[in-house]
Formats: sequence, structure tokens, C-alpha cells
Amino acid sequence: MDLSVSLNRLNLKNPILVASGTFGYAREMAAFVDFAELGGIIPKTVTPAPRPGNPPPRTVETASGMLNSIGLDNDGFDQFVAEKLPYLTSLGTSVIVNVAGKTMEEFERMAAVLSQQSGIAAVELNISCPNVSGGVDFGTDPELAARVVTAFRTTCELPVIAKLTPNVTSVVPIAKAVADAGADAVSLVNTFQGMAIDWKRRKPVLGNILGGLSGPAIKPLALRIVWQVKRAVSIPIIGIGGIQSIDDVMEFLLAGASAVQIGTANFYNPGLANQLIRELPDAIRFLRAETPKDIVGTLQTP
Ligand code: SIN
Repeated sequence: MDLSVSLNRLNLKNPILVASGTFGYAREMAAFVDFAELGGIIPKTVTPAPRPGNPPPRTVETASGMLNSIGLDNDGFDQFVAEKLPYLTSLGTSVIVNVAGKTMEEFERMAAVLSQQSGIAAVELNISCPNVSGGVDFGTDPELAARVVTAFRTTCELPVIAKLTPNVTSVVPIAKAVADAGADAVSLVNTFQGMAIDWKRRKPVLGNILGGLSGPAIKPLALRIVWQVKRAVSIPIIGIGGIQSIDDVMEFLLAGASAVQIGTANFYNPGLANQLIRELPDAIRFLRAETPKDIVGTLQTP
């Protein structure tokens, strides 16, 4: 079966990607994953300067999910380009570089450098991390979200995906704004802000108090947002949120996602994305369809 999908200017061999922050920079996963089979790899977010991240503990397991408060720990953009990107682009799959910045200028500087690199399929703009403060909060304001997409597109010819936060009253106006600004696709959604408490110690569990909730616990919420945005916005959606089975993948495609990202499940089943790619053709045939594209957004509602 032809599993390929096109997200405007981004063409993928299949719709199953691995999500930023759950797959390191891929080297860590080499023993468990057939990289070349994946629809794409989105490495951990990089920022212009190295970041030490938030104080520990940074993760805690919760019912059907986990909270993380990593705080964009990374070695910085220059080190990423020099040392991590060459390995990533040698793996035989699409590499979607994920970047975050505190100012428009930071995004523009990274855009200029990325536009000179070869082998990158697209850039995902992380304007939705719930665990950092300081700088401009691009992801919760439609106008600012649009401006960062415009700035990136003006400086860099690579396809651009905006990864949006669910921590707003409605994602729809933000998705509309980034679509109007020329984003090729939106990734929906990043984590939901939450907290965990150790009541016996009268303390929050996470060093940063608040964290982002991911995993199966958020799947119904993410599906709802994908469905709402699909009805309002015409650019492709990449669905994210607690996917751990082929049924979950199919639910996101029907809700309106053209592709999906496997996130939290990579921590306990790193071979899951490969397994889902192999299971996808039978699930598509079950609906008497011939390609993933045939079923995107075909949920039948009253
Ligand atoms: C983090 O590094 O804190 C998580 C990244 C994100 O949620 O975007």
C-alpha cells in the first residue's frame, strides 16, 4: 500500500512520526528502532543557547500518563547543527528539526542557519512548551504566533510546522492565524499543564512545580482539538496525544489528522512506531480505503 502523505510542501513516506522530546536525537534509539521505516523523526527541541533545563525531579508518572518539566534542556543550536544533525540526516527518514526561541530574532537567526543545511525535511516551531518562562509567549496569542511563522518563512524555505499548545481557551484562532501566515501544517497538541503533589511532604513532586501532561490520559482531549481545528482550518494537522495502538492512530486520522506523532509511548515501547507502520495498511483496508489520505477527516457525525 502507498502510505505516503503530503503536508503541503512536506512529503513523508508514511504518516507515523516520532515526537520531539521523546526520542532524544535518535542515536539513543538505534538499538530499538528501524529509523528508515519511520515517516519522520522530530528530535528534542533546540534553542539558540545551551539550556541546563529545570531543577529535578523533572518527570513523574501519573494515571495513564506522565508529567514532564524538562525545561528545554539542550546543548544549543550550534552544537546541534554541528554534531547531531549530520547523524540525524543520515538515517534514511525525514528529519523535522524542532526549535524554540525567546524572541523573533532568535527564531530568525536559527531560520537563516537551517536554510543553509542539507537533508532537513521541515522545521517544527515549538511555540508551546509549558515549562519555560521569560521571552515572548508566542504560542498563546494568534498575532504573535503568526508573526513567528512569517518571520521563519521569510528567512527559510523549508516547510514550517507550528506546534501548538492546548493551554488556551481555544486552539482554533491560533491554528487559523498560523495557517494564514503560511505554516505548512500544525502539530496538535503539546502537553497540558498540570501538577503532582506529594501530600505527605506537603511538596509538589516536580522541581518546577508545574509540568506538561502527556500519554493516554490526554488522548480524548487531543482528539477533540484535532477535530475542532480540522473543521475550521484547511492546512494539514499532525495529531499528537497518547497514541499507543493502531486504533489510536486511526482515531486521529478520522478526526482530521493527516499524520501522527508517537510521543510518551516511545519511553516504554520504542519500537511502537515501527509496529504501527506495519499495522496501518490492514486498518486502512478495514475501512475499504486504499491510502491514509482516503480516511483523513472522514469521521461521520450526526
Ligand atoms: C520541556 O523541555 O520542558 C518539554 C518540551 C515541550 O513541552 O515543548
